[in-house]
Amino acid sequence: MADYFDLIASRESCRNFLERPVEKEKLIRCAEAARIAPSACDSQPWEFIVVNGGPLRGKVAECAQQFGLNKFTQKAPAFVAVVEKKAMLRNPAGMVADQKYAKFDLGLATMQFCLAATAQGLSTCILGSINRKKLKELPEIGEDVFVLIAVGYAADSPLRRKQRKGLDEILKFAE
Ligand SMILES: Cc1cc2nc3c(=O)[nH]c(=O)nc-3n(C[C@H](O)[C@H](O)[C@H](O)COP(=O)(O)O)c2cc1C
Repeated sequence: MADYFDLIASRESCRNFLERPVEKEKLIRCAEAARIAPSACDSQPWEFIVVNGGPLRGKVAECAQQFGLNKFTQKAPAFVAVVEKKAMLRNPAGMVADQKYAKFDLGLATMQFCLAATAQGLSTCILGSINRKKLKELPEIGEDVFVLIAVGYAADSPLRRKQRKGLDEILKFAE
């Protein structure tokens, strides 16, 4: 099993994909990893719509290129639409529809999906700058897409240095 710290260090956003197709079995394993993510009251307010090649791929890529951004998605061989579903939270009053934590839960599931992809030699890019209206209008999608995940094999292999805030800026031990 890959070391967790190596795994999280080797995940990075890929913006240059090979044309190599993605094996369906690998995508299923990614979805399996996302499926077991935690969520508020175990509500699991998510669905994953996989577009792996085929005629729909180009249409989804167009939806990912809002405002002329994300041009690299033209070459992404697969996309996963992470869909927000109604969150039913269990509380003392019974089941209550509450979307408060849904986006947080979707983020957790998306990360588990992406790390499972990395663990299988795939690369990903989470895409938030997308045309959600156009995506919903595609009959094969027809849902509220929270983010797309572009998935494929990276054309560039060396990892970039992570540009992040220092620990001293984000970590505080309080007593
Ligand atoms: C919610 C979310 C939305 C994002 N949307 C885009 C996007 O539309 N296009 C893009 O190229 N990268 C997008 N990214 C990737 C971030 O830019 C990237 O994760 C960040 O710069 C850190 O780089 P790294 O993923 O390579 O470590 C998104 C990431 C997240 C979490």
